[in-house]
Amino acid sequence: MDSIRIVGGKPLSGTVAVSGSKNAALPILCSSLLADGESTFRNVPDLRDIGTTAALLRHMGLGVDVAPPLVTVRNTGITATDAPYELVRQMRASVLVLGPLVARFGRARVSLPGGCAIGARPIDQHLKGLTAMGAKVELDHGYVDVVVPSGRLRGADFRFDVNTVTGTENLMCAAALARGRTTLANAAREPEIEELAHVLNKMGARVEGAGTDTIVIEGRDALSPVDHAIIADRIEAGTFMVAAAATGGNVLVDNVEPEHLTAVIRKLRQAGVAVEREGRGVRVAGKPPFVPTDITTAPHPGFPTDMQAQLMVLMCLAEGVSTITEMIFENRFMHVSELNRMGASIDVDGRSARVTGHAKLQGASVMATDLRASASLVIAGLVAEGETRVLRVYHIDRGYERIEKKLSGLGADVERIKGDG
Ligand code: EPU
Repeated sequence: MDSIRIVGGKPLSGTVAVSGSKNAALPILCSSLLADGESTFRNVPDLRDIGTTAALLRHMGLGVDVAPPLVTVRNTGITATDAPYELVRQMRASVLVLGPLVARFGRARVSLPGGCAIGARPIDQHLKGLTAMGAKVELDHGYVDVVVPSGRLRGADFRFDVNTVTGTENLMCAAALARGRTTLANAAREPEIEELAHVLNKMGARVEGAGTDTIVIEGRDALSPVDHAIIADRIEAGTFMVAAAATGGNVLVDNVEPEHLTAVIRKLRQAGVAVEREGRGVRVAGKPPFVPTDITTAPHPGFPTDMQAQLMVLMCLAEGVSTITEMIFENRFMHVSELNRMGASIDVDGRSARVTGHAKLQGASVMATDLRASASLVIAGLVAEGETRVLRVYHIDRGYERIEKKLSGLGADVERIKGDG
């Protein structure tokens, strides 16, 4: 396993280009199960999760060429309708094949993802929705077996009890080939949902209301392959924005959709960071100490849970106390103990973390167990005095394309060390 070595203390400066969105690309790649023929996806990030998705689709008999930022998927017939444990355990988002498979073939067998480092993460809403559309669900030796006795899903009115991103995406794909109209109420509103709707509509589906809490889908008999360029990754963008500010830098984060980052930009400004639109990007400039800022994560358009760990580092550099409350996942504070080892002063009480600022962060060897926690440790390393080693970099490689290259392009003293960590 690789590690990342950082010598902190250099303000970031220059321009960084944001890659395509991981969480938009994953459901879109899985949606190619819905149509025969060759689909082309552009602006796909070069990430481990994309490789895992390609392996999953190949397992099902699709031809997948991954040459980021280009990915082509040839669907000339499926040879398997299962997602094996070996792949699902590497990437929880493998569950995104469930909706497309059941819609297209009337059956799927997908390993239950189980818990993950950030929480229990059940898929009950995905299954409840499919059941409402006429599927029968059984649990069998750690797998969920979904069969549609009539062979084809039927449209339904379904209301989510919980706001779920991949759950909404699975049911949108399922409804796209169902018989009749489906209404999804209390649906997730993330930009990645709108992006999937856009792709499904390009494929010939009729999806309306994506981006609001009610999505209406008229099912079609068949869909066509597409050529589509994926939107920019709002979380990668936000991570570079925080890194720029925390280091006292001045960076143009290029290829950003600021509307996707409204809540993050609002909090950065509240903390005293300058964020201005510039061309197709945003210019971010900051200088510690920052203004203490309370943050509560919420479904979009609220503050994203995927930016909570990164903002916590900024609050370690604020003058005073900030409270960060995590409302989406029950166990998303794994970065706290590592940040405290670097000299931060953070106390967790249930869902809230009380961050006492003005910390003098010191370099240390640190390890994280999830993607965004690892990103926060990298930012802490950029700020800290001396050398930091972030171990288990494979978490970062799941969601950040060549992060060490992008950061060194901004003047950071950072390198990947192979086979150490
Ligand atoms: N939940 C249920 N039942 C369900 C589904 C979800 O109780 O059937 C709960 C979850 O346990 C969680 C909450 O609902 O407490 C929200 O989970 P959601 O289903 O929205 O999460 P997800 O779809 O599994 C996606 C992103 C995550 C991101 C979350 C929240 C993808 C591939 N993943 O996960 O991204 O944190 O939405 O915005 O889109 C990341 O990129 O680092 C990442 C973890």
